[in-house]
Amino acid sequence: MKIFLDTANRDEIRQAAEMGVLDGVTTNPTLAAKEKKPFRQQILEICEIVKGGAISAEVVSTDYDGMLREGREVTSWHPSVVVKLPTTPTGVRACHTLSREGIRVNMTLVFSASQALLVAKAGAYFASPFLGRLDDISHDGMALLRDILTIYKNYNFSTEVLAASLRHPLHVVEAAKAGAHIATMPFKVFEQLFKHPLTDRGLEAFLKDWEKARESLGDIVEAIPQSGTRKTGS
Ligand code: G3P
Repeated sequence: MKIFLDTANRDEIRQAAEMGVLDGVTTNPTLAAKEKKPFRQQILEICEIVKGGAISAEVVSTDYDGMLREGREVTSWHPSVVVKLPTTPTGVRACHTLSREGIRVNMTLVFSASQALLVAKAGAYFASPFLGRLDDISHDGMALLRDILTIYKNYNFSTEVLAASLRHPLHVVEAAKAGAHIATMPFKVFEQLFKHPLTDRGLEAFLKDWEKARESLGDIVEAIPQSGTRKTGS
């Protein structure tokens, strides 16, 4: 499963990219507005940090011509940019047109299997169901994800399912178990993926034991002979 960050914050993106496990970034107008920088500059900086990743940039037009204009514009900025369109009838129409031009489209705000079916038929590159927001209103977001994956498999759609609006590590694990192609998450959730109290406690105990034994064993670098440096007869 590919891991994307759901943020426009360069520091967060840089930290995740340095780990070597980041495949892309999803931004939206709410996230971009927090950064207080020109949108084009934000997107270009993100593309430079996540080299070869898929970087979603969302349009703010709600009419067909505006969506096409913005979609063509943002994808001309950098080959990594994927245009994000809302799943409205106009958005689906614009997705169809832009996809036929070879532009990658991420259809966002997917809340039902019927919407997911339509965006795949329109040629979407990614379909983004919002799992957390469904859970918020007592609908089962994970069940929707599984339904979408079943439908796409039944008809061999190439659209990748991007599990979005993930709120905690279990959402990520469940999305992976269901077979989502991608999970996008806030940086806080990304950090939580690493955490386990037994890892911290185990490491603390190892280091404490080593420290106690260090006088007799010596420093680790000296204790483990490097290849070709072993002294004979000692
Ligand atoms: O990727 C979707 C995301 O931006 C929305 O997440 O937490 O606001 O529902 P959230």
